[in-house]
Amino acid sequence: MSVSRGGFSSRLGFIMAAAGSAVGLGNIWGFPTQTASNGGAAFVLVYLVLAFSLAYPAFMAELLIGRYGQANAVSSMQKMSRNLWQKRFAFFVGFGGIICAALILSFYGILAGWMMSYAIEPIARLIGLTEVSTWLTSQSIARNLVFSALFMMLTIAIIRRGVEDGIEKWSKRLMPMLIGLLILLIIYVFTLEGAKEGFEAYLNPDISRIFEPDLLISALGQAFFSLSLGTSVMIIYGSYISKSENLVTLGAQVTLIDVSIAFLAGLLIIPAMYVAQAQGVAIFAEDGSLISGPNLVFDILPTLFNGMGAVGIFVAFGFFVLMSIAALTSSISMLEGPVSFVVERHNVERKKATTLIGLGILAMSSLIVLNFDLLFGLVISISTVYGQPLIAMFCCVFVGWIWHRSEILAEIKQGNESVENSLFWKIWPWYTKLVCPLAIGAVFIHSL
Ligand code: PFF
Repeated sequence: MSVSRGGFSSRLGFIMAAAGSAVGLGNIWGFPTQTASNGGAAFVLVYLVLAFSLAYPAFMAELLIGRYGQANAVSSMQKMSRNLWQKRFAFFVGFGGIICAALILSFYGILAGWMMSYAIEPIARLIGLTEVSTWLTSQSIARNLVFSALFMMLTIAIIRRGVEDGIEKWSKRLMPMLIGLLILLIIYVFTLEGAKEGFEAYLNPDISRIFEPDLLISALGQAFFSLSLGTSVMIIYGSYISKSENLVTLGAQVTLIDVSIAFLAGLLIIPAMYVAQAQGVAIFAEDGSLISGPNLVFDILPTLFNGMGAVGIFVAFGFFVLMSIAALTSSISMLEGPVSFVVERHNVERKKATTLIGLGILAMSSLIVLNFDLLFGLVISISTVYGQPLIAMFCCVFVGWIWHRSEILAEIKQGNESVENSLFWKIWPWYTKLVCPLAIGAVFIHSL
């Protein structure tokens, strides 16, 4: 079965692909923007706690469902179900995740398009095309339509090639380059005036804010978004992992990579905000809210790169190219969820399914571009703030309450013989059964 479905060829291939899905605009655009609008270091602290205490256990639940089921999200969960109601619940959760992935991709493609246009802009500037350069960095319907279409074409082209040749090959190349560039930029920002205040705002939490409902719900959504949970993606990636791999460590490694890159991105962008402020750029409005909102990163970083002189053009190019690739390794995972469902359940040929679904999602992106003020924020909230944590919570309920403990153990033991005596096995089963659903539910109720 795994031969005809495809799978990751190596352990590194999986780590890179899963980390490729996890690391993306959520880390480098979402996390810093959320941190800046939710009280700086207090948000960082809550985010870190939620990422390890709720998102990692839920991530493990999704990986396990997939590796056990060896199929798309719906089929995998139905394989665990023992009666009609459980099968219906499995369909609701699995299909809900697939819809969530499609919704996310519809707004993600627009943002990724911005990254691509900002990557091309330095070249236009270098060869003196001033008007083109201004067009590339100004919000317009035409630019957004062109670049989200370009980005979606790239995503479709990779997914048409399948798991090993497409997803794995692309994901392996990027991560080291991205981390290297982030670290160099952080060191550079560190030398600039205003950075100290930024580090302070990023690292010194105002503890009184950590139970604010808005902050909690945003941090929860961000943690689940960043690990690509509640979207069927990690279930399908889990289904491509070999049975001889140790899922517990793989999951922990991917979580660590993801959280570290978000943390690094914040360490760059929050101080860079204060550097820009010291240079006279207005960042916060009088009531303390962010002036640029979702444009924050696109306002701050070019200011930073321009301050570097001629080198800045190359740094800007490198940074936005890497960001576009990071977005691509996430978007391919989002498209894989719906595609694997249609291919496996409805016997449609892979290439055809990919193109049709990809174009359908592109149509949704275009609709958002044309009604930006109305739809952009709305689709983000529905899919990431509510959809992802809720669906991930149902996955925990599924694993905790429907799947038999002995079957779970048998699945985890493959690739990890001694797991029964580990701390993980002492904590995780009841934690997933009780703590995750209750805590996620509590954050929701608190936010209402
Ligand atoms: N985790 C990705 C990021 O942080 O950019 C976004 C993402 C990918 C969300 C895949 C959902 C998903 F299914």
